[in-house]
Amino acid sequence: MLVGGGDYSCLFTFSPEYTHQVLSDPSKFYSFELESIPFPFSKSESITRLTTALALMNGEQHKRQRRLLLPAFHHKRLQGYHEQIIQLTQNALLGWEIGQRRDIFYEMDMLSALISLSILIGMESKADGAKFAILFERAMKNLFNPSAFLLPYEIPGLPYYHLLRDARILEQELEALILERKRMDVDTGDAMSLLIGSQDEDGLGLTDDELIGQTVALFRGGSKTTASALTWILFFLDQHPVSMDRVLEENERILNGAPPSFNDLERLTYLDAVIKESLRLFPPVMWGIRYSAKPFEIAGEEFPAGQRVMYSAQIAHRNPAIFPDPGRFIPERWETTDPSPYEYFPFSAGPRLCLGANFAMMAIKIVLSIMFQRFRPRLIANQKIDRVGLIGSLPRRGLQIDLGAPECSRPRTVIRGDVLRLFEF
Ligand code: HEM
Repeated sequence: MLVGGGDYSCLFTFSPEYTHQVLSDPSKFYSFELESIPFPFSKSESITRLTTALALMNGEQHKRQRRLLLPAFHHKRLQGYHEQIIQLTQNALLGWEIGQRRDIFYEMDMLSALISLSILIGMESKADGAKFAILFERAMKNLFNPSAFLLPYEIPGLPYYHLLRDARILEQELEALILERKRMDVDTGDAMSLLIGSQDEDGLGLTDDELIGQTVALFRGGSKTTASALTWILFFLDQHPVSMDRVLEENERILNGAPPSFNDLERLTYLDAVIKESLRLFPPVMWGIRYSAKPFEIAGEEFPAGQRVMYSAQIAHRNPAIFPDPGRFIPERWETTDPSPYEYFPFSAGPRLCLGANFAMMAIKIVLSIMFQRFRPRLIANQKIDRVGLIGSLPRRGLQIDLGAPECSRPRTVIRGDVLRLFEF
């Protein structure tokens, strides 16, 4: 479907066949680069460094940088991160008591940020992690605030001034960290210490500027998405108490109160189905965009180079031919459903598949399985829950829960808000 005209037209592709065409050939369909964003982006060196992101690269540059980042997400490396995530989750839950009220979106956001920072740059203390998390968040918020670029002058009080100030602080902190890692010259287990030493077949590695940019991008790409996934999984489980009972039963039977070992994670099959089903209904990245590097044909129609093309996991995941009763949360469907990568793609598909997909699935399982050993989170009744976000998917006012005991079952909580229009019972 073509919407709009001329330079501003956008082609929407919804069928698996066309999604396949768009996602499987990155030489024809480019990811958006900063230069193609329709407002002037800052030429400041700090900002250029902080936006050196794999997701914004194309062609050979993308291939090369992806190869350099890959080792940080290898299966063997994940085993090392596994223990760190357990520790961080246990620490995060230390102050939690039965009967307490919490904003679970805020909690999952903080925990996801700490997990990302810990595996990326190895924050040892909670205070250091929190300091960095706030610094990253502030820089990211300003970086994606269009008003910062409408008046790109370094005058105190203007958003652009704050953006540059935060970008420089963050950059200096990361430079100091890189320097320290290089001086130590040992693999401290985090992604950065591995990336410092990683080289391609020509013996070339990442420059310090690339290291800074990719670290920021990995944090940005990995942290809010994981928080969104965790939050909506807890939401769906509250609204489907029978599924929650099954998750808790499986958790107890397989883990018997112990933290999950790396191999246990594969045995939590019902939890796996719950996560997949929640990512199907509320994917943390709802839309994606590419632009064509060359003229192309789709459904018998010709399109020029430079054509914007959008695809959507949110829409593809509701195709009734692949997912009968598409609006309903039915984790059991994953016992028999085996969609193709272009029918179900919460982590995208093809050569630009999310680098952190396995890491994110592992982190989500660890956080939930440890949480469910102590608590059954339940939504506070009658709260208004609206989903916001153009591309991402977050609860507008957070998600208020109270902490029940795992064995205390209770019926689905009555809630209000737009979210009720986005799935069916
Ligand atoms: C539930 C959590 C996550 C979801 C739903 C998710 C989803 C996605 C999606 C849809 C893309 C493709 C974007 C595009 O094609 O334009 C992507 C790319 C990417 N993601 Fe994730 N992501 C998650 C977690 C993570 C984590 C934890 C990391 C790393 C720490 C990560 C690193 C990346 C990177 C590096 C790319 C760019 C890949 C490339 O362009 O070659 N993601 N992610």
